Parts: sequence; C-alpha cells; structure tokens
Amino acid sequence: MYFPGLEGVVIKETKICHIDLENSKIYYRGYDLEELALNSSFEEVAYLLWFGRLPSSRELEEFKNRLRSVRKPPRHVEEIVASAPPSAEPIDVLRTGVSALALGEDLSARDIEAELRRGERITAAMPYIVAAFHRLRTGQRPVDPAEAASHAEYYLWAVRGERPTPREVRALDVMLVIYAEHSMNNSAFTAVSVASTLADMYAAVTAAIASLKGPLHGGANVDAAKMLEEVGSVQRVQSWVDEQLAKGRRIPGFGHRLYKKGPDPRLRVLRLLARDLAAERGDFRWVELAEKLEEYVTSKLSQKGIYPNTDLYAAVIFRYLGLPVDLNLPTFAVSRVAGWVAHVVEYRQSNRLIRPTERYTGPLGLRYVPIDQRG
Ligand code: CMC
Repeated sequence: MYFPGLEGVVIKETKICHIDLENSKIYYRGYDLEELALNSSFEEVAYLLWFGRLPSSRELEEFKNRLRSVRKPPRHVEEIVASAPPSAEPIDVLRTGVSALALGEDLSARDIEAELRRGERITAAMPYIVAAFHRLRTGQRPVDPAEAASHAEYYLWAVRGERPTPREVRALDVMLVIYAEHSMNNSAFTAVSVASTLADMYAAVTAAIASLKGPLHGGANVDAAKMLEEVGSVQRVQSWVDEQLAKGRRIPGFGHRLYKKGPDPRLRVLRLLARDLAAERGDFRWVELAEKLEEYVTSKLSQKGIYPNTDLYAAVIFRYLGLPVDLNLPTFAVSRVAGWVAHVVEYRQSNRLIRPTERYTGPLGLRYVPIDQRG
C-alpha cells in the first residue's frame, strides 16, 4: 500500500485532540477549543494537554511558578542567541536555542516525568530566546520581565521592552491557545517520530521547529503577512490573486490537508479577534484585506477544496499586536510546543519505533564501472 504524504494514515491512538470535520469543531482533551479560547489561558491549556485534565487553581499556580523559574535560559544559550548574526531568521535562532538547552543536562533519564520537566523548560524559555534575539538584532538589550503575570504577557513584554496592555495580552493568549495543538500535523509527527527512537524532548522539539518552518506548514503565517503587505488594498485583491494563480502559485493562508469541505473551525474565533483588535486600533485595513482575500479566493478555489486557514488571520492579528512579520513563525512555535510535548509524552507511554517503508522504483542489476572508464 502506498499513501503519498501519509494522507489518511493513522499512526497512533490519541486522547489529546479531536477534529470533528462534520460539525466543524475542535476539541482539546474533550473540551471545545472555542470555549477554551474564550475562557482559558495558554498555561491552563498546556497543563490540560500535558496532564490530561484542567488544573485546580493551586495546580495552575504551581505550574506557572515552575515555568516562571526557568524562563531565562542558561547563560550558554543566551550567548549562542547573542552570537547569531542579526540577519538570521528568528525561527532558526529559536531552533538553535532550543537545541542548545539540552547542553550540559544529564539526559540519561527517559521517563515521562523527566521529559515533562524538559517540556516545561523548553516551553518556558522559548519566549525569551525569540525576544532576546529580536532585541539584540535591533540594537536593544534583552529584557526578562519577571513581573509578567502570564506567558503571553511575558512574551509581548520581552519583545517590546515595555508592558503590553491587558487587551493585547488577552489577544495573544487567545492566539496561543488556538495555535497550541492541532492533531497529527507535520511538526507533531516529526516530534513523535524523533521521540520514537527514544531521543529526548530537546531533540524532538528541535526537529519539530525545523518542520514548522516550511511554508507549507507554519511558515505560511509569514508568507500570509507578506502577502497582505504586497496586496496592500482591497481594490488590488482580485488582480493580485488572479496573477498568482495564473503563474501557478499557491496563495499563502489558504488550503489545508484536513479542511477540504469548509474553512478551519478556528477561524470563527480568529475573525472576531482580528475585528476586535482592528476596532480597538481604529484601523480596519488589515482585517478588511484578509476578509476580501477570503471572499475572493474562496469564490475561485472552493470547488477545489481550498478555504482560508488559521495563518491568514494569524497574520492580521500579529500585525495588530505589532509583531515584526518574521516573528509570526516563532510565535507559532512558542504556542505549538504545548502540542508537541503532549504528543511526545503520549507516544512514549506505548512507544513503538516509527519506521515506515517505501517502494523502490529505480533500476536493478547495474554493473559498477571504474571511474576512469565512465563517459
Ligand atoms: N492556493 C492555490 N491553490 C492551492 C492552494 C493554495 N493555497 N493549496 C492547494 N492548492 C491546489 C493545489 O495546487 C492542487 O491543485 P491541482 O489539483 O490543480 O494540482 C489542489 O489545490 C490540491 O492541493 P494539494 O497540494 O494536493 O493539497 P494538500 O492537502 O497536499 O495541501 C497545503 C495542503 C496546506 C500544503 C496547501 O493547501 C498549501 O500549500 N497551502 C498554502 C500554504 C499554507 O497556507 N499552509 C498552511 C497550512 S495550515 C496551517 C499549518 O499547517 O501550519
């Protein structure tokens, strides 16, 4: 049997995330994602994904304290981040920083507890790594805002160097909850695949970040942001899209392996969030542009099963939050790490080495020709 792109292949049983395509719903551990997005926080959702249930207020406080205690990475990681050329892509610096977190730690323990502690360390340190690199490349000193009350607040504050407003923090928190997990996507599969060799959590998450980078996956949220800039105005949408399609190009922020019969359910929350932020800023340009793109591209491509995906509106929301375009992608990673850790831990509980096979279509029986006799 041959499944190009592993489409439709079930590689594990899971209790982490369920996507109900028929009813356009997503569940984390049985909870409706839209309800979580409205009421919950990134830390609460990470706890839910990792430990399988919502925390009590004491458990949540303890969890947040553990994260707080390891937000600032060890000195050698700071030095590696500081030594990256300013022209480096932030996602590459993040991948390198996460990989470097493993250095110096005794990695012999491979039990679930040890991997969860590593998951906490990685998750906690990612905002600082991204923010520190961004500040250094723009000639500013990194900050470690210890007073930040949440992961979302810490991240925005560390990037900007000043305290964000509660509404901005809430908006980012919603994005972090929405982006945190999405079943067996390419980066989750990569993490699980690496972890199935019994490699540690640092190795699994480093590989997952590498997977997320690609423009067919997380990189689409950077391309979508560049597209918004390039299109520039709603009047240009039609001609821009037609031109791209005539050149055989894909429109970033559209299409999904799973959502072929309608848009991604997460868009219900994201469209509203984008509108709210636009109203707050009195600047509807970006949200209206995304809405027009959604309308026009859907009218052209829905018969092929192409609808907008989260990255289109994520690009709008991050713009309203003032994040530089190339931080869109590491911000996705700052959130999705929650899902990667959950999948690694779940898979480790009944681990089987992932080792697919392939069908050979090349020649056989060729005779070796010495190099001086080759044409
Ligand atoms: N714009 C124009 N045409 C498209 C697009 C698009 N964004 N996506 C797919 N198509 C076409 C594709 O060219 C193909 O056409 P044809 O049948 O004529 O050859 C048809 O739709 C089916 O495409 P596919 O490649 O078989 O679909 P897939 O399920 O393998 O691809 C995808 C899914 C996400 C890779 C693809 O839709 C894509 O490249 N989208 C643009 C990048 C993007 O937004 N990625 C983010 C994905 S969602 C979030 C995440 O995972 O991070």
